[in-house]
Amino acid sequence: MARTEPDARILDTLTLEQKAALLSGRDFWTTKPLEEAGIPSIALCDGPHGVRREAGGSNHLGINESLPATCFPPAVAVGSSWDPEVAARIGAAIGREGRALGVAVVLGPGVNIKRSPLCGRNFEYYSEDPLLSGVLGAAHVAALQAEGPGASVKHFAANNQETERMRVSADVDERTLREIYFPAFERVLTQARPATVMCSYNRVNGVHASQNRWLLTDVLRREWGFSGVVVSDWGAVQDRVAALAAGLDLEMPGTGGASDRRIVDAVRAGELDEAVVNASVRRVVALTARHSGVSGAFDADAHHALARELAAECAVLLKNDHNALPLSPRARIAVIGEFAVRPRFQGGGSSHINATRVDAALDAIRAHAPDAVYAQGFSLDGTGDDRLLRAAAAEAAAAADVAVVFAGLGEREESEGFDRETLGLPAAQVELIRAVAAAARRTVVVLSNGGVVSLEGWHDEVDAVLEGWLLGQAGGSAIADILFGVVNPSGRLAESIPMRLQDTPSYLNFPGEAGHVRYGEGVMVGYRYYETVERPVRYPFGHGLSYTTFTVGGLTVAHTGDDTATVTVTVTNTGQRAGKHVVQVYVSTTAGPVRRPARELRAFTKVSLAPGESRTVTLPLDRRAFAYYDVPLGRWVVAPGDYTIQICENASAVVAETTIRLDGDAHVPVVSLDSTLGEWLAHPLAGPALLKVLTGGDSSRPAEDEADGLRMASSMPMGRFLTFAGIHLPEETLRELVKLGQSGDAAA
Ligand code: BGC
Repeated sequence: MARTEPDARILDTLTLEQKAALLSGRDFWTTKPLEEAGIPSIALCDGPHGVRREAGGSNHLGINESLPATCFPPAVAVGSSWDPEVAARIGAAIGREGRALGVAVVLGPGVNIKRSPLCGRNFEYYSEDPLLSGVLGAAHVAALQAEGPGASVKHFAANNQETERMRVSADVDERTLREIYFPAFERVLTQARPATVMCSYNRVNGVHASQNRWLLTDVLRREWGFSGVVVSDWGAVQDRVAALAAGLDLEMPGTGGASDRRIVDAVRAGELDEAVVNASVRRVVALTARHSGVSGAFDADAHHALARELAAECAVLLKNDHNALPLSPRARIAVIGEFAVRPRFQGGGSSHINATRVDAALDAIRAHAPDAVYAQGFSLDGTGDDRLLRAAAAEAAAAADVAVVFAGLGEREESEGFDRETLGLPAAQVELIRAVAAAARRTVVVLSNGGVVSLEGWHDEVDAVLEGWLLGQAGGSAIADILFGVVNPSGRLAESIPMRLQDTPSYLNFPGEAGHVRYGEGVMVGYRYYETVERPVRYPFGHGLSYTTFTVGGLTVAHTGDDTATVTVTVTNTGQRAGKHVVQVYVSTTAGPVRRPARELRAFTKVSLAPGESRTVTLPLDRRAFAYYDVPLGRWVVAPGDYTIQICENASAVVAETTIRLDGDAHVPVVSLDSTLGEWLAHPLAGPALLKVLTGGDSSRPAEDEADGLRMASSMPMGRFLTFAGIHLPEETLRELVKLGQSGDAAA
C-alpha cells in the first residue's frame, strides 16, 4: 500500500539512536522499520533488467535463489535499440514486477560509460556515449517509477571497470567528468527524478565516492537539484561518519548496528552536526513512503512476450553480404554452436535474474524450419573434444544451404567482479567459425556477448553477422524472428567495435596500476577518439543494417537564437519492407580553447516507416549541444565560432551537413600577473594597451611585428616576463594594465 509521507514533526519525537538506525539497512535488502513512528521497512533489490527478489536469507552474490521474474534485455542490448520507448517499456514492466514482489526500490539502471570494451560489467551499461546512455536511462526510470517502485541510478561516479573496483582511484580531470561521465546521471536526475542514486565503490580523484562531498552534495544536490536518497553501493562505505557528512544517506547492507553507533558517538562528540543526521533521516523517511506493499501478481506470459518483442529491437545486423539474411524457411539450415540450445542471455553477478522461462534459439528456429539440423560445435564447459565437434559441425554445414553459428562469451569469460583481458572469442569458437565458413555455402554468425568481441580473424570469411548481445530470457525467439525476417533488424551499435585492443583509447591506461587508473584519453572516449585520430574500426558506433533501405535528405538547420538550433530532415524507406531507421545528429567544431572531438552525438530519433513512406523529423539542439565545460570558469561555455551539424549513417559516415555560426558566450577571460604574456596580448583591452607600453608608443613599428617578436615569450607569466626581460613599469602603469585585464566580461 502506498503511504503518505510521515509528518516532518515525527523527527522531533525520535531519539538520536533511532534516527541513526534509520540510516543503514536491517539486513542485505531491507531498511529498519520504526513501528512506533509509523515508519515501515522497505526492500531495495536488484535490478537493472529484472527484479531479483531473494526468496529467503540474503546473499547478493547470486548464490541464493531469487523469486522468478522476467529477465528483460540487459542494458547492453537496450543501448543498441537507440529507442527510449524500448527502455521505457522495460522500465514499466520491471516496475509492475517490483510492485508484485514487494520491492520499493529496484536497483538500476546503470548509466556508467563504457570506457573500455574490457569492462566486465559493460553488459549492464548502455553505451560509450553519454547522450544515448542518459536518454535511455531517463526513459527507464520515469516509466519504472510511474508504476510505483523507485529506481536507483548507479554507480555514481566514474565506475568504469571491475578491476580493484572497491579501491581504485579513477583519476579524471573535471572537464572529462562533466562532458563524458556525468551527463547521463545529470539527465536522468533532472528529467526523471529517480528516488535514489547509488554511489560507486571506487574512489574519484583519491576520495571514495561514498565520502566524496563534491560528488554527493555539491554536484548532485546543489547543482542538479537532487532531493532523493543517496544509497551506498553494497558495502561501499569505508567511514560511515565521513560518508554521512559528504551526503550519503543510506548505508546498505546493514552493519549490525556498528555504523549507527558510530553516528551517535560522532554527534555526541561534537564531530558531526545533528542537522546532517536529520537531513538524511528526512530523506530516508520520505523514501519509505514509496509503495512497498505487495500488490497483485504480474502477467508472466505477457511480460515474456514483451521481452521477445523488445529483444528483437536490440540486435544489430552488422553484415549481410549476398542477402544471406533473412533465411527462407525452406532452406536446409544447419544450426551450430551450443549457445543455440543453452542461450547466454544475461550477465553474471548481482543482476542475475531467476528467469520465468528461457527460449532457446534452436527451438524457435525449428518453429519456422522444422528440419533444421543441430551440431554442438564446441563445448561450453570444456568437457567435449572440440576437434571432433568441429568436424561434425563442418559436415552438417556442408550438407546445408546455410549454416547459422551461435558463438559468444560464456559466464567464465565475462561477469561483474572482473574485467576481460582480451577481446577475442574463445579460440575453439574462432576455429569452428572458420571451419564452418570453409564448408558451408552461406555462413551466418549470431553473437551472444555482454562486452564487445573482436571479429578479426573470421569476419571476412562469413556472409552475415548478427550481434545479439545479451537479449534476456526471450532472446532465442527474438533472434529467430530476425533470422527469418518476421522482424526487420533495427539495432545500431551503442559502442564501437575496434580492430584491435591496442586501438582502444584507454588501452595504455586500463585498468591502471598502483591503485590508480588515469583517464588519460580525457573526453576522447569511444568514437570520439576513433574519429578524431582517424583510426579505423571494424564497425563504428551507430552502425547497423536493415532488410530495407533508407535515404535521408532535405537537411535544414534553423538557428533559433541564443545558441540553439533545430535540425529537420526527411527519411524515406526506399526498400520493400517496413523498417526502422535511426536519425543520428552530430555536432562538429573546433571552436574554443579546448580540444574538441571530431564529432559528438547531440540528438537522435528512431523512425518507423512502411515501404515507400517518408517522414520529416525535427530535432532540437540546446545550448549544451554546442558547449564545452570550461574548468577555470566552472561552467558550460559556447565558444563563438562555426559549428557543423552532421546527419550521419553512423559515427564515421556523414550523409549531410550544414555549418552555422554561433555568437557564443561573450566572455573574455580575466588576466592577472599570473596570466601568460600570450593571454595578455589576446585580451581585447589589456592586450593593445600592453603592446603600446612595451613599444613605448612607437607607432613606426607595426603592432603585429611587435606581437610576433614577443611570441617566444608568450607562455611566460606576465610577472616573470617583466622581471626576465628587465622591464620596469611604473607602479601606476602596472596598476592600470591589471585593472584593464580584470575587466573580463565587461570588456566584451
Ligand atoms: C553492485 C550493485 C548492486 C549491489 C546489490 C553491488 O555489488 O555493484 O550494482 O546493486 O551489489 O546487489
